[in-house]
Formats: sequence, structure tokens, C-alpha cells
Amino acid sequence: MFGVFPQCPITAYSQRRTRLGGIFVPVKVGVIGAGKFGVNHLNAFRQLSYSGVAELSAVAEASPARAEEVRKQYGCPVYLDYREMLEKADLDGVTIATPDHLHKQIAVDSAKAGKHILVEKPLDTTVEGCEAVIQAAKDAGTLLQVDFHKRYDPDHQALENRVKSGEFGDILYGSVYMEDRIEVPVDWFPHWAPHSSPAWFLGVHFFDLVRWVIKSEPKTVFATGSRKFLKNTFGVDTWDSINAKVDFENGAAFNFDVSWVLPRGFESVVNQAIRIVGTKGVWEIDSQDRGSRSCVEGEGMRTYNNNFLREKTDKFGRTIYQGYGAESIEDFAYNVALLKSGKTLDDLAGTYPSGEDGREVTRIAVAAHDSINTGQVIKLR
Ligand SMILES: NC(=O)c1ccc[n+]([C@@H]2O[C@H](COP(=O)([O-])OP(=O)(O)OC[C@H]3O[C@@H](n4cnc5c(N)ncnc54)[C@H](O)[C@@H]3O)[C@@H](O)[C@H]2O)c1
Repeated sequence: MFGVFPQCPITAYSQRRTRLGGIFVPVKVGVIGAGKFGVNHLNAFRQLSYSGVAELSAVAEASPARAEEVRKQYGCPVYLDYREMLEKADLDGVTIATPDHLHKQIAVDSAKAGKHILVEKPLDTTVEGCEAVIQAAKDAGTLLQVDFHKRYDPDHQALENRVKSGEFGDILYGSVYMEDRIEVPVDWFPHWAPHSSPAWFLGVHFFDLVRWVIKSEPKTVFATGSRKFLKNTFGVDTWDSINAKVDFENGAAFNFDVSWVLPRGFESVVNQAIRIVGTKGVWEIDSQDRGSRSCVEGEGMRTYNNNFLREKTDKFGRTIYQGYGAESIEDFAYNVALLKSGKTLDDLAGTYPSGEDGREVTRIAVAAHDSINTGQVIKLR
């Protein structure tokens, strides 16, 4: 299992990250769900294979047509049934990038098969489902990580650091918006958008980020929402927008505005920002527009969130991706490498978004939906 991969060019960066007690550890990963976002998982593990850190050992993809494409493009075994992959493929860990409401059973089965697990956000769309996954991973003694990648954005990391240092004083309030263009629910996945919502698909990112930055859990949630435009105009029966006010135990109050109805002509697929005000300071981060813009004939203005994914070519001419969208997935492989090299789950505790983080975030999203449906303030603590 352990060994050096002499055929792979190992970069100084990956040596630093994976030379654990003098042993190089290749991590064997299987990806479950190879749709629009699963591609980022495939690419992350493919590029880690260039330095011998990980191998994309197998994929499970339920759509036969998509499975065939992935087989051709990535050259690894692709299973239509993830259970067959769990049974037959030699894997240390799996990552799960199936639709929001289809994470739980796959994660439980993966834990029962003894695999370390990275789950796309949200961990599950019920608190009970999150508990079931957490328990299954606990019973199996495996890593359970959730892909809350906003924590890996260097601007957000700086925010967390400076808030933790006390530079901003006591955090009083803040606000967040995260919005997608309308093509996301209408063109990308109209079949499962009704099982999701802007809170599940987008809000969870910032629910997690704010908890992580201010180191506090929510006390109450009050939310309103609109559910008419997507349903009446496009036949996609889901929330258009959700606006949630969350009061935290430390007294901070945050507004979260999330929607997926921005016009197709908007300058990027995602629009997002966070603003925090404390007794000693204020910080505003445009988490989308990083200062790079373009406009070409026939297209409107475009901005690029280069902190998320920047496509590059490595010195051997291979396409690689850098940014927090890749790093949060790669971090899972590094964690599994550390575990394979003798570190324990306790050693890693607090260094990655955990199953418990996933559950607390789901608690907020469930409360937001409950609040919209009942018109009540939902007390969490
Ligand atoms: N981290 C982020 O910023 C980010 C961004 C987009 C999506 N996501 C998350 O990634 C997940 C997937 O989203 P997407 O946009 O890629 O959706 P998608 O519909 O494009 O892809 C989902 C894929 O899963 C496959 N699938 C479904 N059930 C399966 C099963 N049982 N076994 C194997 N494959 C199965 C489908 O065939 C499809 O190819 C969602 O949970 C979403 O919230 C995260």
C-alpha cells in the first residue's frame, strides 16, 4: 500500500504535503456522481496523480451516456452502480457529488464499506440524515469531510484569521448574498432543483463560512422566500429566493440573501459577497469579482472568480486547476494520506469541514425552510 512512485514527477509542494515520515502515500479515490460539479473532483484527483499523491481509481456514474464519456476522458473503470464500485474497486476513499438529496444513503453505504468520505455540500437535507452519516462514519472509524470550500478561499481565510485575532472587536452584524444565474435551476438540473433550493444549493456555503469565521452557532432563524417565478414561468417547482436572518449565540446578527434567478446576461454564473461589522472594524469581500474582466464580440461583460478555479498548464503541458475549488477536494486526499501514514482522526480534528459542521449547517437550512413555511422564528438553541 505504501511506497514511492518513482515514475511520477513529485513537486516540492506535494513533497512538503505528502512526505509523511519519509513515506510517500498514494491515495486511491473513487468519485460517485460525475456531473457538472463531479468533474472538479475528477480533475482534482487526476492532477494529484501527476505528483503521486492520489489516484483516480474508479468512478460511479448512474447515467450510462455520461459514464461512457468519463471512461473515455479519464481512462479509469466506471461503474453504473456505486455499490458495485464499493465492492470491487480497491479504494481508500470516495467523494460524493450526486444531487443534494441523494448524498445520505451513498455516504452511509460508503462508510459501511470502510471508506473515507468527502461529501459535496449539503451533507444531507435533513438533520436526521446528517446524524445517520456521522454515526456510520464513527462506527467505521472513517474520515467524514464536507466540501464547504468557501473556507479555502484565501480572502475568507484572511477574514477568519483577523476576526479570530480580535482585530475587528466583537462581531455585531453582517450580511451575505449568493446568487446564481437562472440557467442553473432551469437548464442545468430542472429535474432535481425541486428537491433543492437556493438555501440548499447556495446558502449552506455561507451558513458554514459565517459559523467558521465568527466561531458561534445560531440561536434563532427567521426567513421569508418567494416561490412563484420559477414555478409559474419555467415549471420548476422550487424557491426563487430565500432571505434568512440568523441570530448567533455570541449576539451577532447576519442576513443571508440567496437566489438562483439572476438574468442570463449577468457577468458571471455566480454572484456573491460577505460583509462583517464589529466594534473595531468592518470588512467587505466581493467573493466573485476579483478584479479580472473581459468582453468579447457577441458576449457581454464577464468577471472571473479566479480564487475559485484558474485553469493553467503545468510544465509538461497538462491542464491543471488551481484555487479553492480544487484545494478543498485535494485537502481530502491529503487528509487520507495523513491517515494512511499513521495520523489519527483526532490528530486531524478541527482542520477540515467535518460531518458535525455539515449537520449544523443543515440545521440552519432546515430552520430557514421551516420558518418560511410557518411564518415563525425558529429557535435552535
Ligand atoms: N461546492 C460547490 O460549489 C458546488 C457547486 C455545484 C454543485 N455542488 C454540489 O455537487 C452535487 C452535484 O451537483 P451537480 O451540479 O454536479 O449535479 P449534476 O446533476 O450535474 O450531477 C449529478 C450526477 O450524479 C449522477 N448520479 C445521480 N445518482 C447517482 C448514483 N446513485 N450513483 C452515481 N451517480 C449518480 C447523475 O447521473 C449526475 O451525472 C450537488 O450536491 C451540488 O450541490 C457543489
